[in-house]
Amino acid sequence: MSSAENFIKQRLDDRHKAGSYRSLKPENGLLDFCSNDYLGFARSPILKTNIAGELATHKDINGATGSRLISGNLAYTEQLERDIATQFKANAALLFNSGYDANVGLLSSLPQRGDTIIADELIHASIIDGSRLSHANRYTFKHNDLEALEAKLRNAKGTCYVVVESIYSMDGDTPPLAQMVDLTERYGANLIVDEAHATGLYDTGVVTQLNIEQRVFGRIVTFGKAFGGHGAVVLGSNGLREYLINFARSLIYTTAAPLHQLAAIKKACELLPQSENEINKLRKNILLFKQLFSALDKQSSRLIGSDSAIQCVLLHNNKRARQASAYLQAEGFDVRAILSPTVAEGSERIRICLHAFNTVDEITGLVKHINILINA
Ligand SMILES: Cc1ncc(COP(=O)(O)O)c(C=O)c1O
Repeated sequence: MSSAENFIKQRLDDRHKAGSYRSLKPENGLLDFCSNDYLGFARSPILKTNIAGELATHKDINGATGSRLISGNLAYTEQLERDIATQFKANAALLFNSGYDANVGLLSSLPQRGDTIIADELIHASIIDGSRLSHANRYTFKHNDLEALEAKLRNAKGTCYVVVESIYSMDGDTPPLAQMVDLTERYGANLIVDEAHATGLYDTGVVTQLNIEQRVFGRIVTFGKAFGGHGAVVLGSNGLREYLINFARSLIYTTAAPLHQLAAIKKACELLPQSENEINKLRKNILLFKQLFSALDKQSSRLIGSDSAIQCVLLHNNKRARQASAYLQAEGFDVRAILSPTVAEGSERIRICLHAFNTVDEITGLVKHINILINA
């Protein structure tokens, strides 16, 4: 066996031993309590029809044919970016092929050697990866903790960027954003907010809900979650947009999104303001889940505090988290285990993603089976 094959085998064996081996699984027909399709857009017949109608009027092109800077930039793309900027109350928007690309492009290109990036300790991997590619000083602060953030801000060198999520992908909770914007302003730092899991449930996001969009330096909105498609935008100033076109390598050195992806984003953005019913239904489902769960877990000590569609039940090790998801799947509920190293050792969990389309019976049944699990 070559040294590379040996290395691969060793690493995979280690994963097996740690109970954290990852494998791809096809769709399973179970009740969806794990996807990011919070409002049901990914399966919406209305959206499908609207996208088809849009594509029918632009029959001339399938693929983008090249990167945005060569042949892949359409008038359609730039109009879509202007429309998104207006809808999300930003000065400018720049589309990336995914949220991962957006975060890597932004964080790798903007902070320079001698600058400082301060990110919440639970920040998404795409922000960590982008920051690693930059030459800036990198620090994390205790999750959602303003004092810990201030301690890092006091020692920040150069231009400082503070990066947080408005709803954390693995915990579902929200930072004190209003205070954070005050704090970062006091220290002259630039606040960047990833709104991947907030858009939809909170309309165009927590930032616009708090009316702080003019005080936040940059936002990332992704279209693969509540919008049911794929892709993302960085929202910010016109200068930031121009800068990213010039320096963000994940935009410059990749083929642009095909028209279908752009049309899906456009039509999902148009559908959002007409989706009050779905948003209300999702809110009701979140409330129902929390009420039912707190009735069985009186101290609510297992549930991570969250008002979002992401609800996590802590099980504290990989084995128990895996067993729990296997049990729930056998009962018909597609709930996934979140294992270390994706989350810190000791905080392994099952993550329940709630949706507008989950029924009262489904949620009641799920909580009943979680109860059996906890008391087994
Ligand atoms: C907070 C956050 N940011 C960015 C991303 C990446 O977005 P995308 O799936 O569009 O690449 C994710 C997806 O998991 C996420 O949870």
